Formats: sequence, C-alpha cells, structure tokens
Amino acid sequence: MSFRDLCACALLLVACGGNGNAGSTTPAPQPIPDINTFPPVPSGAPPGASAAAATTAAAIGRGVNFGNMLEAPTEGAWGLSVSDEFIDSARVAGFSAIRLPVRWSNHASADPPYTIDASFMARVEMVVDKLLAEGFVVVLDMHHYRQLDGDALDQGELGVPAAAVDVRFVMLWNQIATEFRARDPRLIFELYNEPHGRLNGAPWNVLAARALGVVRKTNPDRAIIIGPTHWNSASDLRLLAMPNDANLIVTIHDYSPFSFTHQGAEWITPIMPVGVSCCSPSQVTEMTTPLDSAKAWATATRYPVFLGEFGAYNKADSASRVTFNRTMRDAAESRGMTWAYWEFAAGFGVYDPVAHNFRTALLASLLGR
Ligand code: BGC
Repeated sequence: MSFRDLCACALLLVACGGNGNAGSTTPAPQPIPDINTFPPVPSGAPPGASAAAATTAAAIGRGVNFGNMLEAPTEGAWGLSVSDEFIDSARVAGFSAIRLPVRWSNHASADPPYTIDASFMARVEMVVDKLLAEGFVVVLDMHHYRQLDGDALDQGELGVPAAAVDVRFVMLWNQIATEFRARDPRLIFELYNEPHGRLNGAPWNVLAARALGVVRKTNPDRAIIIGPTHWNSASDLRLLAMPNDANLIVTIHDYSPFSFTHQGAEWITPIMPVGVSCCSPSQVTEMTTPLDSAKAWATATRYPVFLGEFGAYNKADSASRVTFNRTMRDAAESRGMTWAYWEFAAGFGVYDPVAHNFRTALLASLLGR
C-alpha cells in the first residue's frame, strides 16, 4: 500500500465517522467490485463509423472548450464558472459545439457504488441542457481523474484506494450514461481526456472498452469519443485498439510546437522560456505532421477525427497566437477534421471575462474568413 493509499484510507475512516470502536453504527463499506464484471467491448474488427456517427462528427464543426470551469476540483476554484453570458456569447459568435470538461471523480463517493453527488449531477445536467437548447453539439468529457493516470491529487481532492480507481471510472460512466440516456443525439460522450501515465498503451484500450460496454447498455447508438494515449497524441493512434463499434469518433490534441504554445505555462515543469514566436515553415511542419498522420489513420480505419484541443497560452505574443490559430484551423479543416479550441475564458481564452468581450483578433483567427 502506497503512502497515498494510506492517506486515502485514513481520510475515508474520518469521512465515514469510523473510529475503530466496537458498536459503531456506521455500516461496513461494500467490497470493491471486481472489474471483470464489466467486460470490455471486443476489438479487432472495428467496422468504421456509421453514417450517423459521421454526421454527428461533422456537426461538431467549429467548437470551443469551456475549460477551467467544471474540471477544476470544484466549479469556481480556478476562477471561472459556466454562465449564461459565456453560453450566449459563444452562440452569438458562431461556435457550433462546446466541449465541456468535467471532473466527475471529485464529486463522487470514494466507496462503492461511487455515487455521484446529486447536486453536482444536477448542475452538469442544467449546463448540458442549456447548451443543447441553444443548438450546440455538446461533448461531455471526463477530465482530470488524476489517480486514473497515476498523477498526484490536486489540492482539495479526496483519493480512493488504488484497487478502486479503474472500476470506479467504469461505474462513474455507468451513472453518467444512465442519467443522460434520453438526451438529444447532439450530446456526445468523451470517455477520458488525455489518458497518459499508467494508462499508456494497452491498459487504456482495455479500460476504455469496459467503459464503452457500460455506456452501450443505456446508450446503444450515441456517438462516443475515444482518444489515444500520451495525452491524445496522434503518434499513439497506432496503439489504439478500436472497439468493434460503429458509433465512435476519435479525438487527438495538438499543441505543437510545445515551446511556443506552452511558453511561460506555470503548470509545466520547468517553466519554458517566453519570447518564442510562430509560425516558421519548420514550425508549421511540426503543427501539421500530427494532423497528417491522423488523417492517414482516419482514412485507413474509416473513423472521423476530431481535433479536441489546440491553442496557445497568453504568454505568447498576440500576433503569433493569431497566426497559430488560423494555421491550425485551416490545416484541420482541409484534412476533414472538426475542432474545438482550448479554451474559452481562461489563460488561452478567446473571451475576456473581465471586459465581457471577445478578444476580436483571436476570435477572427478561429471563426473569421
Ligand atoms: C488540460 C488543461 C491544460 C491544457 C493545456 C488540457 O487538456 O486539461 O489543464 O491547460 O490541456 O495544457
């Protein structure tokens, strides 16, 4: 048992009121369910995308991520909450899709059956329903389940025992899928953002196929997004074992050249120097190489590819960010990919939440002619 597991167990005891005294009325926790009760959807003969999945993928069009909102440890902890102002502004500007990252893992019980907090579920449902009513395609994404990748917890997060991490992921999806099963087909589920670390390669293939299996019980036809490991790298598409399911869309993220897009980013260690501009011919090659390989993969497998994240942090100069966005947009679209910009109103933001206005040059770089 690791130090973190010990801490988690200690926290669980406190949370459950357990004090080791005989005669306590606290019920004993249920045993951790066996992951094998959730068999993976088989792979090896993926049929390619159905016409319906291809249509839904195309309908994503030009999207934006509502980042730093519902995937913070709690909504608002990173300075932003989803608001009618954001939703209405995105619609008026002309975005056709919203990718909605959600940190479900910090709003669910640490004990089986890992029940999602009812008020948090209601909050996400309210946001999803408002977005659907406004006409958006909505990509509901599970984001930042830190233990799933083997990463350290963020401040304010409760850990679970190591043996529970994977089965909890599948059981979270069971609840989400059940709750949203009657929603319009414009609601797409994305199984997990940027799998990496302990999930790289085969472990993710098996776990994703298990989660897909539970989702399919209540959502037999809904379009589901699945992505490769190493943070949704196009270079890991070769490792992605597509389940034998036609209603799938594949996602990649492309932040190259990383020294440009993440210059000065405080969450990267060591922090990279600022002053890197964009986009020289060799930088453009770096940006488009992942898109080329994703396009080749899409042609071979007959699944559509969605560029779910790209963007440059605000420590880069404005003119370069504009050039970067326009180049990426055009490169994705000329390869038949829909996209979602990272992100709406935080450090990469196309919208200024203090001035209550779009940053016009950035917006034009994404949606202009
Ligand atoms: C992460 C964000 C990060 C962004 C750019 C996203 O997938 O969730 O936390 O800001 O990538 O690095």
